[in-house]
Amino acid sequence: MLDVTAEERDFYGGHLILLEGVILEFLSCVAMIRRYQVGRGRTDPITSSHARIKSADSMRRKLRLRGFPATAENALREMRDAAGVRLICPFIDDIYRTAALIREIPGIQICREKDYIHTPKPNGYRSYHLVLTLPLRFLPSQPAAPVWLEVQIRTIAMDCWANIEHQLKYKRDIPDQKLIVRELKRCADEIVSTDLSLQTIRDLLESAG
Ligand code: GTP
Ligand code: MG
Repeated sequence: MLDVTAEERDFYGGHLILLEGVILEFLSCVAMIRRYQVGRGRTDPITSSHARIKSADSMRRKLRLRGFPATAENALREMRDAAGVRLICPFIDDIYRTAALIREIPGIQICREKDYIHTPKPNGYRSYHLVLTLPLRFLPSQPAAPVWLEVQIRTIAMDCWANIEHQLKYKRDIPDQKLIVRELKRCADEIVSTDLSLQTIRDLLESAG
């Protein structure tokens, strides 16, 4: 289910199962929360979810950049995004509903929350981020240090924008960078206004019964 290559197995070693564990525990909670919401006559707040373990290459690069030796111990102790889950929601409201439902998961510990929707990044990036940990039920005793999971919650439109922006970040040979950056920011702002319009349409439909 998780896409892990020999590179990641080598790098994370015995820690890999902890990262897989925190992802699978969380995804199984999320899957049941969605079913429970629908069972109670609410809408499903999530369209899709994606999980990943940070690639060995990019984790090594990030550790070195922050001045840490590139080891699996440091990846788990010093970084908070070795394990990551992205939840894609149909409407902006669903992002906050999802975050509230996550906060109620028994045993969950949230160490950081960032609302890049209320306060977008200067480039136009929007998303709701949480760093959390939850009990790993498959272990006879919990690890001495928490195994962190980074959760990003966004609308379909915000996700579309972030994916394209991410791709462009790695293209260094673009002739007019300034124009691209400006256009991307414009797209991000148009996307949020479309998200808000879609939200209004849904609110109108819901209040009409
Ligand atoms: P990092 O250690 O770099 O993750 O710093 P941080 O923990 O302060 O990061 P932040 O919460 O700002 O962002 C974490 C993750 O969100 C990144 O690894 C990306 O996946 C995503 N992200 C943040 N900013 C951007 C952005 O400008 N564009 C895109 N495409 N993704 C972003
Ligand atoms: Mg990160």
